[in-house]
Amino acid sequence: MNAHVKVWGVKTGTISPLIYGHFIEHLGRCIYGGVFDEDSPLADSSGFRKDVLEAVRRIKCPVLRWPGGNFASAYHWEDGIGPRERRPKLINYVWGGIETNRFGTDEFIEYCRRIGAEPYLAVSLGTGTLDEALHWLEYCNLNTPTKYAEMRKTFGHPEPYRVKYWGVGNEVYGPWQVGHCSAREYAEKLRQFAMFMKALDPSIQIIAVGADDPEWDLTVLKHAGKVIDFISIHQYHGSEDYYETVAAAYYVEERLKLLASLIKSTRMDHVKIAFDEWNVWYQVDPEEEAREKGIVYLEEPYTLKDALFAAGIFLVLHRLSDVVGMANLAQMVNALGMIKTQKDAMVLTPIYHVFDLFVNHTGTVRLGCEVLADSYAIRAKSFLKGRSSFALERVPYFDASATYDPSRNVLSLAMVNFHRDEPCEVAVDFSDVPAGKEGQLFELTAPDVLAGNDFASPNRVVPVSRAVALSESSYSLPPHTLWVLEVPLEGALGGTV
Ligand code: AHR
Ligand code: AHR
Repeated sequence: MNAHVKVWGVKTGTISPLIYGHFIEHLGRCIYGGVFDEDSPLADSSGFRKDVLEAVRRIKCPVLRWPGGNFASAYHWEDGIGPRERRPKLINYVWGGIETNRFGTDEFIEYCRRIGAEPYLAVSLGTGTLDEALHWLEYCNLNTPTKYAEMRKTFGHPEPYRVKYWGVGNEVYGPWQVGHCSAREYAEKLRQFAMFMKALDPSIQIIAVGADDPEWDLTVLKHAGKVIDFISIHQYHGSEDYYETVAAAYYVEERLKLLASLIKSTRMDHVKIAFDEWNVWYQVDPEEEAREKGIVYLEEPYTLKDALFAAGIFLVLHRLSDVVGMANLAQMVNALGMIKTQKDAMVLTPIYHVFDLFVNHTGTVRLGCEVLADSYAIRAKSFLKGRSSFALERVPYFDASATYDPSRNVLSLAMVNFHRDEPCEVAVDFSDVPAGKEGQLFELTAPDVLAGNDFASPNRVVPVSRAVALSESSYSLPPHTLWVLEVPLEGALGGTV
């Protein structure tokens, strides 16, 4: 197979660093036993797993969403503050098990500070009220001599937390959600929550629940568009079929473009897309788990195939960076987790390594990039319980994104050969950019698309890197492979962004 890439030395936009965000929820072992594990020999004095913390730091998590997800819709934040031994133990009736509330707002904020992430809180629209949301905002962000701000100080946090991102509700369009309601009902609640929350703290940004449904999304945008900053969309894909999984990134591209066109049609151009839940999820059925074990864990195993879907997602998010302002993988640890833990060990899945390559080796300035490649048609239908089937006429076997990192004067070309069996001979045209003589190549691949890492073999799928001469104009990408090629520049690039 052959492909052509032409890189133009022209800046065409900026890519929000927030697209590499994450999400943690009180679900299975995501928080307790994952992020936070007071009994673990690997925990620090705050109860945070040190190995997980270090791994998350390495991929510079820019924004972290919490406490859910579905859990958020039945969460009362006041249960999770104050002395830990006095916090109530409650039944987690959303995902099963007992919620000890030992990880609450103060622990979450401390975690965000330790990993350098912006906190993103989701207020409850299920059993929660407007009062409760405003009290939480006061607790977090205000310095007034009032009950909740004083409460934060009493618990040892004199300085306001300045939480910028606030989600109003989670997936309330779905019958599985506590607080399920109609688009009209949601849009009016959202308008009120956003209006009063912004009156309390005008510096915050509001993320509205989008449903990936034009009727819902238009209702929200028309009724409350003026008071929101983001509208969300969630996408879970994948199946045991390789092409159904990797092609799903291009279905996601269609859905993001559709949402962008709704934003445009309502003239709400200030509203960005928050793609705040996305991942591969097809093996673990929450209802079955709940029936069998009483607790939902969603410990979905991930392989190279799933990592290439993730790589496709980032190529798409680079292309759509003018409209997508944030994205959050669902989720960070254990539950649908890109990191898996046991009491005394941690495994990084191939999806984690995709984050590593994109976060640490691509830039935040988008460059002009033309890609010519073969494509295939697909009809995908085997997602968990038939959700999210799709058909696409033209899915590329090869795709690429060119970006630029001004701080290092490095151009970076991320390329994926999605072909399962054939290598791709890529002719790369760098003639429009002042490329140096030698680049650094980072590669993520494995002999088998179903290869993954586990506790016995944690390094089966890991990135490798080598120097490459840039005098060559053609490169051979192995089948099912992600490459990130860093190209040091010897001069300036055109265009301003
Ligand atoms: O990430 C798991 C769940 O998927 C989230 O709680 C929910 O928002 C979505 O349905
Ligand atoms: O797609 C939403 C998911 O469907 C919910 O999170 C899960 O509980 C249900 O099966």
